[in-house]
Amino acid sequence: QNQSNSFWQKYGSFFIKGAVNTLVFALLTVIAGTVLGTLLALMRRSKVWILKAIAVIYVEFIRGTPLMVQAFIVFFGTQVLGLNLSAFVAGAIAMGINSGAYVAEIIRSGLNSVPIGQTEAARSLGLSGTETTRFVVLPQAIKNIWPALGNEFVTDIKESSVLSVIGATELMFEGTTVQGASFEPFFPMMIVALIYFAMTFILSRLLGVVERRMN
Ligand code: ARG
Repeated sequence: QNQSNSFWQKYGSFFIKGAVNTLVFALLTVIAGTVLGTLLALMRRSKVWILKAIAVIYVEFIRGTPLMVQAFIVFFGTQVLGLNLSAFVAGAIAMGINSGAYVAEIIRSGLNSVPIGQTEAARSLGLSGTETTRFVVLPQAIKNIWPALGNEFVTDIKESSVLSVIGATELMFEGTTVQGASFEPFFPMMIVALIYFAMTFILSRLLGVVERRMN
């Protein structure tokens, strides 16, 4: 009893700090990823071949390399350039870069899921290309994009654990810190798992509520 009390007194704050930082990471990532992903998806649909090529190469390269490697490249690459970013900032940038590629595909497939007849009908009614996208395609595409973006948020909560390798003080990193400090390899990881699960479970429930409202 005494022992477990002192465990929480000593290490409770590590888990709390880690969990908060993980949520901040995931939130920043989903915002940056959505902005970047939208841009990439638009570039991919563009008629300008160079924009299209950049978007395709970006998405393929990012999805074809591990986030862990990307995190190291951003962290040490910015140091080579003379920038001294904290692990947290470098980690957030790496996550945003990574998520952008996945979100680009989410948005692309969402736009593609709207039948071409919708575009044809809108165009023959006299809407311009931009108006068609804005008023006809996008509102229908959102129905597919929104739930996938929610999944991306959930994924980002879990994937940010990878950033512990560069020393970003998110939940996984704090968990390994407690492992080392307490000489307990197992128990701290169980706590970490439960906190991740609580966060992803609650978030996906919340997203489910919003999704049902939208239908
Ligand atoms: N585990 C993958 C990797 O190492 C990252 C997946 C990220 N997925 C995502 N939807 N953002 O590359």
